[in-house]
Amino acid sequence: MICENIGINGNHLTFAGMDTVALAEKHGTPLYLFDEDRVRHNCRVYLEAMKKHFGESSFPCYASKAASFKRIYEIMKDEGMGIDLVSPGEIYTAMKADFTMEKSLFHGNNKTDADVSYAMECGVGYFVADSIYELDAIARCKKDSTKQKVILRLTPGIDPHTYDAVATGKVDSKFGTAIETGQAEELIKKALSNESIEIVGYHCHVGSQVFDSEGDVYLQAAKIMLGFGAKMQKEYGVAFKVLNLGGGFGVRYTDNDPYLDVDATIGKLGAFIKEECAQLGIDVPQIIMEPGRSIVADAGMTLYSVGTIKEITGYKNYVSIDGGMTDNPRYALYGSKYTVLLANRMDEECDFVADVAGRCCESGDIIQPDVKMPKPVRGDIVAVCTTGAYNFSMASNYNRIPRPPVVMISKGKDSVAVKRETYEDLVKNDI
Ligand code: LLP
Repeated sequence: MICENIGINGNHLTFAGMDTVALAEKHGTPLYLFDEDRVRHNCRVYLEAMKKHFGESSFPCYASKAASFKRIYEIMKDEGMGIDLVSPGEIYTAMKADFTMEKSLFHGNNKTDADVSYAMECGVGYFVADSIYELDAIARCKKDSTKQKVILRLTPGIDPHTYDAVATGKVDSKFGTAIETGQAEELIKKALSNESIEIVGYHCHVGSQVFDSEGDVYLQAAKIMLGFGAKMQKEYGVAFKVLNLGGGFGVRYTDNDPYLDVDATIGKLGAFIKEECAQLGIDVPQIIMEPGRSIVADAGMTLYSVGTIKEITGYKNYVSIDGGMTDNPRYALYGSKYTVLLANRMDEECDFVADVAGRCCESGDIIQPDVKMPKPVRGDIVAVCTTGAYNFSMASNYNRIPRPPVVMISKGKDSVAVKRETYEDLVKNDI
């Protein structure tokens, strides 16, 4: 199985030690499952590896765009994680979960003045400032004489060969300010006269779903960022306290995906950073990373019920389920691969091939093409694995389809963390 929290008991698929067919029956489908113990395990892998290889002051900030709801922030608080927030909505949700905001970062390439003021009111720890517009906005919105801690988002000009929608560290990105063009240095010069901010360091994020095989992109990014930080410290006296290397570690969606060893990858990066800092004659800065996908992806699974089975003679087969691109738009958007299983018939031969399709009024509403499974019948349970990241958080109400609930599993017990949307929820803002 692609992750150790997935198993088989008799002919039923298990997740986090629980029978998925029984969970589908109890909570209904479509259904998002979250394995809380796996989320905690993934957090601890980062917490330990970063302390060990980057030093005591380093810490991971969970990139909550991957999955944002109250219970997740409660878990992050409990585990001692920082959090990366990218909108006032995420800030609001974290506040509702009583997250300690000093350990939060506020991202975004176009923060409005209202966003900036709200984040300040909430006591967000660091602004990850994308451009001069944001630095000006911080100055405009600052109500007291304290300085706002700012990390400048820069583009180191690295291309990790991931798919274009998520490659964010390239020079021509909409995010950050480019080092290569000299604009990052210009930004620093301007920022120095801004009384409302303290530049504490620099941020970059090369991309998402990145593996070691991509040619050490993190080492390349670290080299450029450290060189830039050292130069700014020497030439302009900007103390280089923090280096945030973003998120992006890849996860296994199918058996063909490689396995990324987080501890080993961070170990290699830590050794490189120490060496590089020694050569540059600077202290090793506090290192922050922002894992999202690798914290929650394999902690998630989605369950659906089979409805229509269509065999188009001489062409292809479709198995339609009671969810689709509204709860998981990733195949429709990126052609993402998933492992799809027939959860109630795990002991049967997979001798039928079909596209697993959603119920939206759109041909592109496919969860996964060419899935091998036992020939299903109406009412069978389809499980899509590794859906913890960018599924719930990217869900929509297209075709007025209510979002599924999130059920958390911890130590063999299931509990609802987010309720199923109702039809009443769908019209609650309609006047
Ligand atoms: N930090 C920053 C600044 C980011 O932009 C992102 C992701 C992360 C951290 C977390 O990256 P992760 O560890 O999750 O790879 N919707 C796409 C992914 C978009 C990622 C956007 N930024 C997907 O479903 O694949």
